[in-house]
Amino acid sequence: MTDPDVVELAKRRGFFFQANDAYGSVAGFHAFGPRGAALKRNVEDAWRDRFVVREGNHEIESPTVVPEDVFAASGHLDTFDDMLVECPDCGESHRADHLVEDESDVEDAESLAADAVEELLADHDADCPTCDAALAGEAVDEFNLMFETSIGPGSSQTGYLRPETAQGILVEFPRLKEYARNQLPFGVAQVGRSYRNEISPRNSLLRVRELTLAELQQFAAPDGDGPDLAPVADVPLRLYPAAAQEREGEGDLELTVREAVDEGVVANPWLAYYLGRARQWYERVGVDPARLRFRQHLPGELAHYASACWDAEARLHGDWVEVGGFAFRADHDLTKHDAHSDERFTLFREYDEPRTVERPTVDPDMSYLGPEFGEAAADVVDALETLAERDPDAFSGDRVTVEADDETCSLPVEKTGFAVREETVHGEHVTPHVVEPSIGIDRVVYAVTAHALRHDEVDGEERTRLALPPTVAPTVAGVFPLTDAQADRARDLADRLTRRGMPATYDDAGSIGRRYRRQDEIGTPFCVTLDERTPADDCATIRDRDTTDQVRVPLAEVPDTIAALRAGETTFDAVSREYDDG
Ligand code: GLY
Repeated sequence: MTDPDVVELAKRRGFFFQANDAYGSVAGFHAFGPRGAALKRNVEDAWRDRFVVREGNHEIESPTVVPEDVFAASGHLDTFDDMLVECPDCGESHRADHLVEDESDVEDAESLAADAVEELLADHDADCPTCDAALAGEAVDEFNLMFETSIGPGSSQTGYLRPETAQGILVEFPRLKEYARNQLPFGVAQVGRSYRNEISPRNSLLRVRELTLAELQQFAAPDGDGPDLAPVADVPLRLYPAAAQEREGEGDLELTVREAVDEGVVANPWLAYYLGRARQWYERVGVDPARLRFRQHLPGELAHYASACWDAEARLHGDWVEVGGFAFRADHDLTKHDAHSDERFTLFREYDEPRTVERPTVDPDMSYLGPEFGEAAADVVDALETLAERDPDAFSGDRVTVEADDETCSLPVEKTGFAVREETVHGEHVTPHVVEPSIGIDRVVYAVTAHALRHDEVDGEERTRLALPPTVAPTVAGVFPLTDAQADRARDLADRLTRRGMPATYDDAGSIGRRYRRQDEIGTPFCVTLDERTPADDCATIRDRDTTDQVRVPLAEVPDTIAALRAGETTFDAVSREYDDG
């Protein structure tokens, strides 16, 4: 799933590597070096630009340590589990579902019950990947992936490191709806570190215990129309629906966003909209569109909060790897927080005109209920109110029955004061539905690096090149003086580029060929060389990383030219034509 070439280059050139090496490392934690941190930041900024700024959404930042109550309500405490099997010989723990997938034709073992996975391990004579001991007969347990911690000293409160940034948005809904002036739809985003105590972290950045998620919670009316699809209607999507996965031999579909919605393949228009936006974004940051697809979750695969989900998957070294998830969370989280907390996680939607509605109500005769039900009388009143609201027909006979205080209580309807009254109402409380685009930034950084890596030949010499898009490349330009006489001018140019937000590296060490190779290997899209002609013509040579084409441009115009090339406002060919002709 990972390629040693990518992992080696990433470490050697300061992109990413396993952290804490000096102490032997703990699996699942990675550091981003100077280049990787810059690449990651650029990918995150491109995400903000696409999913926050251009969509008119809002970004927040919430704590990474979260009290237990939040995850008890959201369901993570009970269900955010993976299946674990421990080797009886070496004691190493493994993902039981992954072992089953490795050993058998089962593709979606995660959706199976633990005892079924246990049986499959035995049926397929699965061995421990670490020491080869037989795992048949070993228990498969559910292991909660959240890191537990204590908040404060002494009899401290239990907290968890957040496993997703989403919950930090959802739990603040009562305030966020006010900031959105109670108007749906609105979107709230967050980018930040999240933590998952993975059973078998592995494969470089692809399965880690600390990761960066970029997540958007799109709140929308449950009965709303969905977004305007026009801006993404023609975006092509490679889709692998659940139905095709279940029917052997069926593969991907190529549909535009509009076709996917019209044909009911992506039923939720908000999901379809964001699949389209994501397809554009992945390409912009350097995921090869020919190696990107969206795969629908099978029913048994859905997370506890999701009613539907499409994963973005990138093809990496022969495997499809999840690099994002697009879930329809419906009202799951808001309903849970509404029930578990003292706040209302609904939104009051005012009608255009007040409406007259019939409201079934009760006004119980307490002089009857008190003596009849004693201490349970108050509970009987509550139960009658609920029943009147939910099932007014229950009051159509002579007697009505409710459950209160673990007792079945029956009483004459005339003692309940049941009546249907007309009321004027000005609006209603609705629980918004949530669509969640969620991107695993670390995995995207890996995919972008892997898809960018090329080996080719220039002037008879092998070179390694990272064909990163100029918008995410850690360094935008290498600036080289050919001799000492151009050093000051070259330094000045590198400064000017950097001050304009285009990080530039001044390099005067070694042959010009070696300087190019160094920049090619870290993905620098442009190199600028100042040579002995520069004092006379005040020009420098810009070289394109991928084609190695060169064009001579007036020094004063180099920053604008590189800015335009980086932004995609012009092409190297166009620049060449402009200056060569001039
Ligand atoms: N919020 C999406 C996830 O937890 O994977």
